[in-house]
Amino acid sequence: MSKQLFIKTFGCQMNEHDTEKIAGVMSGMGYSLTDSPDNADMIILNTCSVREKAEHKCYSDLGRIHELKKSNPDLIIGVGGCVAQQEGINIVKKAPYVDLVFGTDNIADIPGLLEKKGKTSNDRVSTVRRKTKYLSNVSDVTAVTVKRSHTVKAGVSIVDGCDKFCTFCVVPFTRGRERSRQPDDVCKEVLGLAANGYKEVTLLGQNVDSYGKDLGGVTCLADLLRMISDIHGIERIRFVTSHPADFDDNLIDAIAKLPKVCEHVHLPLQSGSDTVLDMMKRNYTYSGYTEKIRRLREAIPDISITTDIITGFPGETESDFNRTMDALIEIQYDNAFAFKYSRRPYSSARLYENQIPSVVGRERLNKVIELQNSITLYRNQECIGMEYDVLIEGESKKDKERLTGRTRTNRLVHLPKKTGIHAGDILRVKISSATLSALTGEAV
Ligand code: 5AD
Ligand code: SF4
Repeated sequence: MSKQLFIKTFGCQMNEHDTEKIAGVMSGMGYSLTDSPDNADMIILNTCSVREKAEHKCYSDLGRIHELKKSNPDLIIGVGGCVAQQEGINIVKKAPYVDLVFGTDNIADIPGLLEKKGKTSNDRVSTVRRKTKYLSNVSDVTAVTVKRSHTVKAGVSIVDGCDKFCTFCVVPFTRGRERSRQPDDVCKEVLGLAANGYKEVTLLGQNVDSYGKDLGGVTCLADLLRMISDIHGIERIRFVTSHPADFDDNLIDAIAKLPKVCEHVHLPLQSGSDTVLDMMKRNYTYSGYTEKIRRLREAIPDISITTDIITGFPGETESDFNRTMDALIEIQYDNAFAFKYSRRPYSSARLYENQIPSVVGRERLNKVIELQNSITLYRNQECIGMEYDVLIEGESKKDKERLTGRTRTNRLVHLPKKTGIHAGDILRVKISSATLSALTGEAV
C-alpha cells in the first residue's frame, strides 16, 4: 500500500496551488493523499504568515500533530510555505519534533531533503534557499507533476513574489522579489490542461498586473490573456490578484475584448483614506482608484469587482475609517474580504509608533463586515430572475443531490442534480434565490 500524506493548507490561492505541487512531487515518492491526519505517514503544513492569526494556527496545529507523533514515532512532519520561509530552521527551536522545513521555492527539493534525512536518522533537514529566476525547477514540476485538486478549473502560477513593499505586508520578505514565468512555459502548461479537459484557468500571482516587468518589458498580463485566449478548449480565464497602481487601460481593454476572460476583477483597495493609503505606500489615491473603477465599469458594464480592506492600520483615525465605510457605499463591491491590521515581521509599519488598539481595529472590522454583507446580499439578490452561464464544477459538498458551479462573475451557484449534466458543462441557469454566499437556480 502506498504511504499516506496529509497536507493542510493555509492562506491564498498561491498556497493552494503550491499544495498541488507538493502533492505531485510526493506522489513521485510513492505517497498518496489522505484527508485525515490520524493514520498519515507524513503530515505537511503549507503555512501562511500574512497575518499573525494564520501563523499562530500553524504552531497550534503543530502541537496537535506532536501528539500523533508520540503514538507513531515514524510519522514525518514537514513545514512549508511562508512561515517556513520566514523562520527557516528556527521552526525546529519552537517545535523540535518537526523533521523537515522547506521554503516557498523549495518544493522540488523535498525528495532530496527526505533522502538526506534518511541518512542522518534523527536530524532535522531544512532548506529555504531562494531561487532568483522564476522557480525554474518548480516550473518543470508544474509541467509534469502537479496533482490537481479539481478536474474543471486549475490555478497556473505566472509570477511569484512581490516588489511593492506595502508597509503592512510580509509577502515581499517571504515570497521574495517578483519573478515572472516565461509566457511560453505558461502557455505550455495551459495547453496541457486543455488537453486534459480543463475548462477554466486562473492565472496566479501576488501582483499579476506587473507580470512581465522583470522579463524586459516585452510582455504583460494583457498579452498573456490574448495568448491563452487562443488555446482551444479553455473556456474561461481569470487572474488574481490585481494591484490598483498597475491596473491599466490596456488590461481593461483586454478584459473587454477577449470573450474568454471572465468579468471579475479582484482589486484590493485596503483603505478609502488617502492619508492611510500613503502610509501603506500603496501608490494610488482614492480618486485615482475610483477613476479606474469608472473606466472598468464603462468598458465592461456587468463586471464584478471584489476587494480587500484593512482596518486599524497604524494612525487610522475615526475619520480615515469613515472614508473606508464611504468607499464601500460608493463603490458597491460585489464582495470584500476585510482584515484587522496585523503587525508582521520585517514590514515597515510594524515600527510605526501610532499603533491602534486591537479592540478598535476589531470594532472597525465588524462595522466593515456588517456593511459589506448587506451590500453583497443586495448584489446577489439583484441576480434573482436573471440567467447566467454557469460552469459546473461538480457535486455540492454539503448536499449530494445538488451541483455547484460558478457564473463568469465568480458567484457560486447551486442547482438540482439532473442526469446528463456533468462537471465541465456550461449551462444557462435561471436564478431563483440568493443568500450572502451563493445563488440557487435551475438549468433552463
Ligand atoms: N494585516 C492585515 N491584513 C493584511 N493583508 C496583508 N497583510 C496584512 C496585515 N499585515 C491583507 C491585505 C491583502 C490580503 C491578501 O491580506 O488586505 O490584500
Ligand atoms: Fe503585499 Fe502589497 Fe505585494 Fe500585495 S502588493 S503582496 S499587499 S506587498
